[in-house]
Amino acid sequence: MKVGIVGKGGTGKTTLSGLICRAYAARGLRVLAVDTDSNPNLAMSLGLSEEIASATPVVPRALIVGGGSGQMSPKQVVADYGLPTPFGVTLLHAMRVDQAGAGCTCSSHSTVRSLLGAALEDEADITLVDMEAGLEHLSRSGGTLAYADVLLMVMEPTVKSILTAARTVPLAQELGIPRVYGVGNKARPGDADFYATVAAERGVPLAGVVPFHPSLGEADRRGEAVPEGAAPEVQAAVDGILELLDSPDEERDALLAERARIDKRIAELRGS
Ligand SMILES: Nc1ncnc2c1ncn2[C@@H]1O[C@H](COP(=O)(O)OP(=O)(O)O)[C@@H](O)[C@H]1O
Ligand SMILES: [Mg+2]
Repeated sequence: MKVGIVGKGGTGKTTLSGLICRAYAARGLRVLAVDTDSNPNLAMSLGLSEEIASATPVVPRALIVGGGSGQMSPKQVVADYGLPTPFGVTLLHAMRVDQAGAGCTCSSHSTVRSLLGAALEDEADITLVDMEAGLEHLSRSGGTLAYADVLLMVMEPTVKSILTAARTVPLAQELGIPRVYGVGNKARPGDADFYATVAAERGVPLAGVVPFHPSLGEADRRGEAVPEGAAPEVQAAVDGILELLDSPDEERDALLAERARIDKRIAELRGS
């Protein structure tokens, strides 16, 4: 399964990316985490020190991953650029600030797109992409996440944040991502109801609500991963999200929605 994590800056994409990857790895799955943020913080959330994180080679931009000639196989990409982390997750850095500063990051994004489009089954059970903030990665031309199976839109408990997610849903569907959900993060008492109500009003399916927990911010301040067991309520919410993603009903519904989308597109093309 290929999972994309999107949302505005500061909503908790990297924190949740780290926790979701760790939860899958703890279940014995092989997890590949891809950091596309030019300020790569996912390494810390996965338990690496800043020194190791910043010394890691970045996947070269404009690299095309696949099985064709002139392309690099997924196996080789993981072997050459994959970084083992303490929780058993393999990390790929797709972008770094020196690259982002050097101009357009499009070619780095096309590398990530080709990686997701390549056959990754031999390398990873779960590939998760922690996206930098912004919606342009969901644009029809060259959308980085075009090959994602699931999109999680991380939100904060504000109407604005839920509206951003609501605007993301049709873009993601247009791009062909079959399952698109909002995740309500940093929920304080009463926020779970707020998320449920506003998300329903705005047509955002909710994958779960993650409580606010001070130990997440504290770990960030120390520049470390959240210690195991430090935020059991958060862990329970993350486990709930994994359960939803793994549930056969959700998968069937996604397949039906995908079929309806393709039928509609065929009808449009016939009509034009
Ligand atoms: N559930 C939560 N409870 C408390 N703090 C959180 C929670 N989720 C994220 N944070 C904090 O919010 C800040 C932004 O999180 P981060 O994951 O870096 O966001 P993003 O990657 O979306 O920019 C960090 O200080 C992080 O510790
Ligand atoms: Mg981030």
